[in-house]
Amino acid sequence: MSSLSEKNKRFYSWNSAEYWKAVELRRIVLRFPLGKNYVQEDFDAEENELFFGCFSDHEHCLSSISAKKLDATTWKMRQFVVHPSFQKCGIGKEMVTFYEFEARTKGINKIEFHARKTAVKFYQKLGYHLEGEEFLEVGIPHFKMKKTL
Ligand SMILES: CC(C)(COP(=O)(O)OP(=O)(O)OC[C@H]1O[C@@H](n2cnc3c(N)ncnc32)[C@H](O)[C@@H]1OP(=O)(O)O)[C@@H](O)C(=O)NCCC(=O)NCCS
Repeated sequence: MSSLSEKNKRFYSWNSAEYWKAVELRRIVLRFPLGKNYVQEDFDAEENELFFGCFSDHEHCLSSISAKKLDATTWKMRQFVVHPSFQKCGIGKEMVTFYEFEARTKGINKIEFHARKTAVKFYQKLGYHLEGEEFLEVGIPHFKMKKTL
């Protein structure tokens, strides 16, 4: 799969059916390989975030990202995941483009986040810059990255 129709990329709400499908994907890709899982407090803490998903025609979650508003013009990108069967097919790039478009329409001009070291090159290709030194988060190396839109 190299490209997805616009209708499959959309916002979804916290605690919706789509939210829990995305959580399952997040568990499989972001947590289980580290021997970790989410706890209820993790879900409670993201109640006020914005959620962006990409869903197949059969409503399987193929990708998800969330946005935590840090101030009037800044979003923190969180929990970005693409289904393992569809990684390196262009979905991640499409999702970031969608995310940045929606950010701009909401008056956001800065995006920052903690990137896994293994994904840094992906973000650099999309114009994100490293800031500061490597640090550990969920037990693995991360870097702070940012981009001014
Ligand atoms: C990282 C991730 C979100 C990227 O999404 P994706 O759909 O696989 O990426 P795309 O297919 O859109 O790739 C866009 C470009 O980045 C490259 N790329 C993708 N992942 C890469 C990686 N981990 N390292 C280096 N380059 C990468 C692709 O080869 C492609 O390059 P090209 O434009 O020169 O052809 C996805 O692979 C993923 O979910 N990985 C596991 C979880 C993870 O690391 N999440 C990010 C946490 S910060």
